Amino acid sequence: MARRIILDCDPGIDDSVALSIALFHKSLDVVAITAVEGNVPAELATKNVQTVVEQLDPPRLPRIGVATRNDNSDYRDACFIHGRDGLGEVGFVMAGHHQRHQSEKILCDEVRAAPGEIDIVCLGPLTNVARAIQRDPHFIENVGEIVMMGGSFNGIGNITQTAEFNIHCDPESAREVFHAPIKKTLIPLDITSQVQFSLSFIDQLPEESTSVGSFLRNVLPYLFRSYHQQLGQETVQIHDAIALLQLLEPELFELEAWAGDVEVKGQLTRGMTVFEKRQGRKTSHNLEVARVVDASAARQAVIKYLNR
Ligand code: BDR
Ligand code: CA
Repeated sequence: MARRIILDCDPGIDDSVALSIALFHKSLDVVAITAVEGNVPAELATKNVQTVVEQLDPPRLPRIGVATRNDNSDYRDACFIHGRDGLGEVGFVMAGHHQRHQSEKILCDEVRAAPGEIDIVCLGPLTNVARAIQRDPHFIENVGEIVMMGGSFNGIGNITQTAEFNIHCDPESAREVFHAPIKKTLIPLDITSQVQFSLSFIDQLPEESTSVGSFLRNVLPYLFRSYHQQLGQETVQIHDAIALLQLLEPELFELEAWAGDVEVKGQLTRGMTVFEKRQGRKTSHNLEVARVVDASAARQAVIKYLNR
């Protein structure tokens, strides 16, 4: 039976690659895609989820959840990487305008309707999951596993010196989710960054005549340009697709149990993930963290799944 998941995301070019895999993979049943403010502001995140689904035209249509603004006054978007519209400034026109529910309501409703059966894959800030925890006292006991792309085990960030983008967008929510008694797996930046894609990736995408090929061939060149112009890099990282692989090919990762927390105050460290690394401390582990990835196999797996 296919694994039932909700994708909570902030498209975002790498989110879109993850969606391009998940929506067509037979072992996944994507019951909903819930938008969250992150790479782009809330309204655009919702619009982009709708646009990506329309462009990809998957066999089964997921429910779509509406993002609302987070409460973090330091929030800043990542349009400098993903484009002003978050999807590479291609100029997609969205066809449908729908009346929809807020993301946290969809998370609560789906989890309540199928206790223990719904896993959540978080590819953006943890705002929606924290709100679901606050909204429904039974959410924690009813949700399955949560797999999150975020944080940094080695302490090196990407949006600040110390903070990874998803956690930095909403550190308070991330902290709440980290501490919730839910089975959680973290795929941090230092793992996803090991999987680098060179420009030849574009040639390995499905043909232009397919929906996935056409969409990604339009969107991905922008990511190569922004990595080159903004970061001085010739290769790109597709963080969210790597995190998704944890569900599809868990043997690509080595996980370890750790006690992890989130700094919510420091001037230089707000949004940093902090792990208890001192020897001999009696701490209870609250999450599994990917510590090793087979980078070459992970790159090949992304290409393979996109071409299915
Ligand atoms: C994460 O931040 C976002 O820009 C990406 O979509 C990814 O989820 C990487 O730090
Ligand atoms: Ca993302």
